[in-house]
Amino acid sequence: MTDLSGRVALVTGGTRGIGLATARALAEAGATVVLTGRDEARAKEAAASVGASGLALDVTDAKAVSSLVRGVAKEHGKLDIVVANAGIMEDALLGMIREETVDTTLSTNVAGTLHTVQAAARAMMRKKASPAGDRGSSTASIVVLASIVGEHGSAGQTLYAASKAAVANIARSAAKELGRSGIRVNAVAPGVIETDLTAGLSEDAKAENAGKTPLGRLGRPEEVANAIRFLVSDDASFITGQVLGIDGGLVL
Ligand SMILES: NC(=O)c1ccc[n+]([C@@H]2O[C@H](COP(=O)([O-])OP(=O)(O)OC[C@H]3O[C@@H](n4cnc5c(N)ncnc54)[C@H](OP(=O)(O)O)[C@@H]3O)[C@@H](O)[C@H]2O)c1
Repeated sequence: MTDLSGRVALVTGGTRGIGLATARALAEAGATVVLTGRDEARAKEAAASVGASGLALDVTDAKAVSSLVRGVAKEHGKLDIVVANAGIMEDALLGMIREETVDTTLSTNVAGTLHTVQAAARAMMRKKASPAGDRGSSTASIVVLASIVGEHGSAGQTLYAASKAAVANIARSAAKELGRSGIRVNAVAPGVIETDLTAGLSEDAKAENAGKTPLGRLGRPEEVANAIRFLVSDDASFITGQVLGIDGGLVL
């Protein structure tokens, strides 16, 4: 069993789905976990269900992200793990994409992830994560949520796929930049996982995706959370800049 005791972790968009499952997985491994969501009451309620604490945060607000991340690191004396999970998906064929959706998707998925990684890096560099090791042996680790469609494209998801391609490249570039500070940065690229985000898919679309997947089914949030728990643990101490597909083989 992965041991994250003594680590301090922050999960954005932790009120449900993959974020909540990740907060639970990290807390069960012994980490002190803070999760966030846009509504304070919802964040606190979700946090209570997994033994974490909950705070309100809209990741599109760069100042709020910076101040919340600084505050968490200050309160707990350090910040070891950040999972930039908050994200939205609104599908539309190319000709039907609304300008407003372009703004909300890019500001949440791309700018929100960038703000979170920036703030995490600052906090991790300011207060070296424990044990204050040399380059490469630090406990500081960031995971961002890309998507398999960001790697391979998807009809009806051009905007979302573009945003997730950007997220994967935030991980790759930040990994190159932050490695010298002992901070690892990776992305996970889930396939179709059963959460609120995909609840709107028709039963036919779900069956089609499950049918295309060698494992013959859709994924569960816990299956993404388990991979994230591995990536932030010492078991992944020489892994950085990777985009790990968690899709049951969907794109093979
Ligand atoms: N489910 C999939 O099949 C799948 C596949 C590939 C990638 N992903 C990615 O995985 C991540 C989690 O997805 P999910 O399926 O768990 O989604 P979900 O069930 O819809 O949950 C999304 C989470 O993001 C939060 N959020 C949304 N906008 C936010 C904002 N502006 N500021 C702060 N928090 C915000 C929501 O919190 P509140 O609403 O409480 O504020 C919620 O906790 C997303 O980045 C998604 O793109 C999911």
